[in-house]
Amino acid sequence: MKINQNTVLQGQRVTLVPYTSAHVPRYHEWMQSEELQRLTASEPLSLEQEYEMQRSWRDDADILFSPECTFIVLDTARWAGQERADEDCMVGDVNLFLTDAEDPTLGEIEIMIAEPSYRGRGFGKEATLMMMSYGVRNLGITKFEAKIGQENETSICMFKKLHFKEVAVNSVFQEVTLRLDVGDQERQWLLEQTNHVEEKSYVEPKLPAGTLET
Ligand SMILES: CC(C)(COP(=O)(O)OP(=O)(O)OC[C@H]1O[C@@H](n2cnc3c(N)ncnc32)[C@H](O)[C@@H]1OP(=O)(O)O)[C@@H](O)C(=O)NCCC(=O)NCCS
Repeated sequence: MKINQNTVLQGQRVTLVPYTSAHVPRYHEWMQSEELQRLTASEPLSLEQEYEMQRSWRDDADILFSPECTFIVLDTARWAGQERADEDCMVGDVNLFLTDAEDPTLGEIEIMIAEPSYRGRGFGKEATLMMMSYGVRNLGITKFEAKIGQENETSICMFKKLHFKEVAVNSVFQEVTLRLDVGDQERQWLLEQTNHVEEKSYVEPKLPAGTLET
């Protein structure tokens, strides 16, 4: 049972909903893209493996490398009040990992706007801010890190816009680490940036007939 399992965060551009089996087929389709595999340093999985990942994320507490919190990013304008299936509104995902067993106040954040037509329109920035605000308020996170491929200028620029600073470069993995310490001022800023967000209860969508149930 994950802390965000029943949480919907509705923002202006994006709505964050917990990752459920109804989201797996579209997610799996995205991750067939070699560009996304490269940009997110991910290995392609079979559809069955993706269902298993989703199930173990939801059910298995504390498994290694499993995100503490995963939200699917939906397009608010398509989703809100229109009774469309989540699957038709999915644009990406955002994850928060607790990577340091000795420091549960450190959160590593990952964001992907998978649908190319949605990039560069403020969706990534709003989703990241919403996840950060959620992490600060609900998980007691006081520092964030993002590990990004050195060539991924868009993502590096976005995190710098969000007040992250470059703190390390790993030349073996060709990756930079950006970090944000959330002191009083940053916390205030983060809460202001997300004070339009409405928190609601999530109603899990029904699976379409014939979909693999786990
Ligand atoms: C990186 C990513 C999350 C950014 O999200 P996005 O919705 O495209 O970005 P936004 O429109 O919210 O822009 C946020 C900031 O990023 C920067 N940015 C956005 N597009 C950019 C581009 N094409 N080139 C350089 N910087 C760019 C800008 O600084 C922008 O801030 P501004 O609009 O105030 O100037 C998204 O493009 C993405 O997921 N790409 C593919 C997968 C990926 O690279 N994931 C990150 C792995 S670490």
